[in-house]
Amino acid sequence: MKFFIDTANLQQIEEAQALGVLDGVTTNPSLMAKEGITGRNNILKHYVDICNIVEGDVSAEVIATDFENMVKEGEELAELHEQIVVKVPMIKDGIKAIKYFTDKGIRTNCTLVFSAGQALLAAKAGAAYVSPFIGRLDDISTDGLNLIAEIRQIYDNYDFSTEILAASVRHTMHVIECAKIGADVMTGPLSSITGLLKHPLTDIGLEKFLEDYKKGNS
Ligand code: E4P
Repeated sequence: MKFFIDTANLQQIEEAQALGVLDGVTTNPSLMAKEGITGRNNILKHYVDICNIVEGDVSAEVIATDFENMVKEGEELAELHEQIVVKVPMIKDGIKAIKYFTDKGIRTNCTLVFSAGQALLAAKAGAAYVSPFIGRLDDISTDGLNLIAEIRQIYDNYDFSTEILAASVRHTMHVIECAKIGADVMTGPLSSITGLLKHPLTDIGLEKFLEDYKKGNS
């Protein structure tokens, strides 16, 4: 399973990259705003800065919601860097835009996906990634992981090449369960990756190993 980090914070991206297990980055307009990145030129520059830190795909989201402007924005984003994947919302014009981009060889990430039917449409349009938001489903008492399982089954039934990018991951158990189901990618905060490191028996065991080493080598 690929690990993407879901942030526009350059320090956190650098930290995840330094760990050596990062495969890409996802951003969205809220994450850009959180970092205080405003204005078209600053936003575009920030995407390039992110691409220069990571080796993998970087999702950059269009703001337009109509086909013509999504295409215009998406083409501008795709020209920024070869790592850019154009993130397009799951709406009617979004599906048209994904099909357009697919035909032009521009890779897309279909975002704001909350149902298996939406995921099926995204795959039919040729999206490189589909982003089901599991945390936001959990937030409204709907099993987000169940959606990942449904999409996995549908995509496997028809050999769709669209990768399932489990999004809105909030914690390590989401990561582990997504891996068990067979999501191709997960995107979450840095803590959802570094949290996988933690186990008290590792800490206790290491402390004991170092203590015993010191006894024999002092
Ligand atoms: C996906 O690409 C989104 O940016 C993201 O995962 C949304 O997560 P949230 O529900 O924690 O905001």
